[in-house]
Amino acid sequence: MDYKELGNTGEMVSEIGLGTWKYRGGADPLLRGVALGATFIDGAEMYRNEDEVGQAIQELRQQVFLATKVLGSHLRYDQVMRAAEQSLQRLKTDWIDLYQIHYPNSSVPIAETMRAMEALVDAGMVRYIGVSNFSTSELRAAQAAMAHNPIVSNQVLYSLKARRIEEELLPYCQENHITIIAFTPLADGSLAAASRFLPDRRMKALEQVATQVNRTMAQVALNWCTSRPNVIAIPKSNSVARTEENCAASGWRLSPEQVRTLDDAFAK
Ligand SMILES: NC(=O)c1ccc[n+]([C@@H]2O[C@H](COP(=O)([O-])OP(=O)(O)OC[C@H]3O[C@@H](n4cnc5c(N)ncnc54)[C@H](OP(=O)(O)O)[C@@H]3O)[C@@H](O)[C@H]2O)c1
Repeated sequence: MDYKELGNTGEMVSEIGLGTWKYRGGADPLLRGVALGATFIDGAEMYRNEDEVGQAIQELRQQVFLATKVLGSHLRYDQVMRAAEQSLQRLKTDWIDLYQIHYPNSSVPIAETMRAMEALVDAGMVRYIGVSNFSTSELRAAQAAMAHNPIVSNQVLYSLKARRIEEELLPYCQENHITIIAFTPLADGSLAAASRFLPDRRMKALEQVATQVNRTMAQVALNWCTSRPNVIAIPKSNSVARTEENCAASGWRLSPEQVRTLDDAFAK
């Protein structure tokens, strides 16, 4: 497993993490992923499975970089504090490594939310602050509202099939040392296999590159994400076998030419 620096914190995180939205796999897939070096686990109060995640990793809490999120409807100061306390309880831990605002909420002043996020860091409950689904301008406003902590990450939709962030947000984050955490990097599993009934030029290109490098299509789709500087990807799987497959998307690199082939095939 290869690791990348989170923001410019000096903290190294696995370039393949483990997503947990709709995760119902029990302990085994997460434990296998962590054993293979995918130590970044992404949760959220919204996913209603922090209990299950906390239970699974209890014995190896020190090895795991645990990320979770506060709902965009809980962004008042007191709501953020309460949400964090409840996540800590469900996750059965004393600290959250990365606490993310799940999505922006224009009805709450961003300064109030960021004050709460910084208070959580001051109290030792949270190590790093991140956001999710923030546009470049929302990110700038959030950064400006921080008194003494950086925003280290923005978790956003990014895959071969969803490349909107390349226009503005991705270059902005790369220039400003903000890690992009690519969610739904397998396009909900649809990048893992070509349809036999609906031949698709894009998927044929993906299949060809996968054959060239002797990897699966899912692995190539994930490696394409992490071939971008500053980007890590967090596929979710309920299965041990697919978790192993996804973890083996790291530790090697597509050639620049293969990346270009995929860029062109999946161009907007
Ligand atoms: N911040 C946000 O707003 C936001 C939004 C969406 C997602 N997320 C985060 O991003 C994570 C990943 O996104 P996602 O769950 O939406 O989508 P995803 O990871 O792109 O795809 C998950 C789907 O693909 C299947 N799958 C996984 N690995 C596979 C493989 N190697 N081959 C074939 N199928 C495979 C899974 O099935 P099995 O489970 O049966 O293997 C599941 O149905 C989430 O779990 C969550 O942590 C964040």
